[in-house]
Amino acid sequence: MPRQLFVTTALPYANGHFHIGHIMEYIQADIWVRHQRMQGSDVAFVCADDAHGAPIMIAAEKAGKTPQQFVADIAAGRKPYLDGFHIAFDHWHSTDAPENHALAQQIYRDLKATGLITTRTIEQFFDPAKGMFLPDRFIKGTCPKCGAKDQYGDNCEVCGAVYAPTDLIEPYSALSGAKPELRSSEHFFFTLSDPRCVAFLEQWTQDGRLQPEVANKVREWFTRDESGKAQLGDWDISRDAPYFGIEIPDAPGKYFYVWLDAPVGYLASLQHLLVKRGVDFASYMANPALEQVHFIGKDIITFHTLFWPAMLHFSRRKTPNRVYVHGFLTVNNGEKMSKSRGTGLDPLKYLSLGMNPEWLRYYLAAKLTQRVEDVDFTPDDFMARVNADLIGKYVNIASRAVKFLPGGRLSASDFGRDSAMQPTALVDLVRGHYESRDYARALREIMVFADRVNLLFDGAAPWKLVKEGGSVRAAEVCSQSLEMFKVMTACLKPVLPALAARAEAFLNIEPLDWDNAAKPMGEGHVVGTYEHLMQRVDAQQLAALFEPPPEVAGATQAAAAPASSAAAPTQTTVPSSAAPGGEPIAPTIGIDDFARIDLRIARIVSCEAVQGSTKLLRLMLDVGETDEQGQPKLRQVFSGIASAYLPEQLVGQLTVVVANLAARKMKFGVSEGMVLAASDADPAATGIHVLTPWPGAQPGMRVR
Ligand code: MSP
Ligand code: ZN
Repeated sequence: MPRQLFVTTALPYANGHFHIGHIMEYIQADIWVRHQRMQGSDVAFVCADDAHGAPIMIAAEKAGKTPQQFVADIAAGRKPYLDGFHIAFDHWHSTDAPENHALAQQIYRDLKATGLITTRTIEQFFDPAKGMFLPDRFIKGTCPKCGAKDQYGDNCEVCGAVYAPTDLIEPYSALSGAKPELRSSEHFFFTLSDPRCVAFLEQWTQDGRLQPEVANKVREWFTRDESGKAQLGDWDISRDAPYFGIEIPDAPGKYFYVWLDAPVGYLASLQHLLVKRGVDFASYMANPALEQVHFIGKDIITFHTLFWPAMLHFSRRKTPNRVYVHGFLTVNNGEKMSKSRGTGLDPLKYLSLGMNPEWLRYYLAAKLTQRVEDVDFTPDDFMARVNADLIGKYVNIASRAVKFLPGGRLSASDFGRDSAMQPTALVDLVRGHYESRDYARALREIMVFADRVNLLFDGAAPWKLVKEGGSVRAAEVCSQSLEMFKVMTACLKPVLPALAARAEAFLNIEPLDWDNAAKPMGEGHVVGTYEHLMQRVDAQQLAALFEPPPEVAGATQAAAAPASSAAAPTQTTVPSSAAPGGEPIAPTIGIDDFARIDLRIARIVSCEAVQGSTKLLRLMLDVGETDEQGQPKLRQVFSGIASAYLPEQLVGQLTVVVANLAARKMKFGVSEGMVLAASDADPAATGIHVLTPWPGAQPGMRVR
């Protein structure tokens, strides 16, 4: 029965490239969509960049870009990942697109008309230097419980305490370092605590449309206190300017909180696709048979099972039919995976090493079930599953069977003769498992079937038969094996679309779907010439995949490098010819990391060669400091620049010094800082160049 399906995956934040967790989600949904298409369903499969919010606005500012340019640059990098892993979205949109502005504002107006929007004045931390209210994660301070310094506004990473930003001792803005002030501002709320919302959501979340563990988890929101009030609270949906987002109608300076307009992006993306296809959005949505299905990860359940259905229902729109939740992908037994940076398994690196994307699709599918379980990627397991199962059991049947089939012409092969070989039963079983997202079971069934085919093939030993005058029987066995290979190809097609296409070409058949999957190609059908369908996983590729990028090694070394030398040439990593200045850019740091380095303008008051060293000069620097008597206090710094400058060239010059570097005792005395200089990774080639500020800078000024 063909179905009408609107399928989405969560909209990734547009503040970074895809990591392997994103790719897993897309592969899970893509397999399901391909399965649906094989049964003739009409599917609109869409996604978009989640463009809005304070973190993206701040990241854009740091990158020196407008938020629009910043998210456009991220969007421009999406295609190689999606194409590379055969993820076939029909459309990829952005939540900053005009459709989303219009839709989000309309949904808000509809909610307001239903009486579910209220305003309330709340107090929040405000950064006076930046002129903006600070999201919790941009407020830091001392933990009120354990006294650990530099903890985030919502919880302490040292003792695990959870608190409000206002509980922090000596709070400061992670953006500017300024002391935040409490200011009040009017916020807009979606009154989810309204009995209408509670009643609706309690019913909606518990009517069987959610996975049992998900329904259980959200049930907590409906537990009631003594007064009979559910835990579900009102949802703060507004943020104050400056904010990168969608303006709230009739509320100057107020924007929708990013999580209000993000899921609306599902509809905006769909709408854009339908317009492109010449289909009317309103009538498409009005079709009662339309099924709306969201694939998401376990961290965003509440947004998708409470806020989003309530937004849709109370604005009199269709609510999701299914929200399919998956667990997290971990790598190497749960190695911690950062949401923004991912793990050591970089999807683009995987592709650039020439690793087959369908290995990953197969491996992930072999581990995905309908439950909300985490999935672990382990290199050994990956290699075993792909090489032993996918290639050893399935791919190899084709190459072995085609050898003993003269002219590639199939002879009669009787499906019914062997009761273990029941293609229709296999297809039905596998289809059912795809439908319920039990890909692991689908693949297990296919591999059990493949074992039987191999057993039959090996038992009949066609290579012996042909030598012993049994060519007719050999051709029969091989024909039957190829018929079974065809059935298995259909069964694997949602997971391995490219391999299936090559197999279809080899078998010389029409594109496989669930209708024709179990139909025999039949006696007299001529298959094409066999070309190897898939390589085995190579251990060296896997080793290369997990080899840390060279710049990380370089950074670790540099961090441990002695403080005295200006250019630190020997601590740099192996120069790569493509890298600027002969070495790759070091790993990204946050502005707060940079802020910890106190750079000051210094005047070189005196300078002399160091007896016993050919590399070092001794500099006396005025960094604007004075002693108790108010007299200028000079610092002694040793710098490895003797090869580049004579002492007299430097005296009187201004330069930049790292002023808060721990003092270091050297053979010739204590060094109280470090002078900055530029050099290539190989300073011998291009020399060492001490930095000098532009005119106007004075000793003691901070460089930032
Ligand atoms: N922007 C929101 C979603 C808005 S949907 C209207 C968001 N973005 S995200 O980039 O952080 O995550 C996007 C999806 O990737 C989510 O479904 C999330 O659960 C999933 N994953 C993030 N890390 C993951 C793993 N390590 N493993 C599997 N999925 C992971 O949340
Ligand atoms: Zn603490």
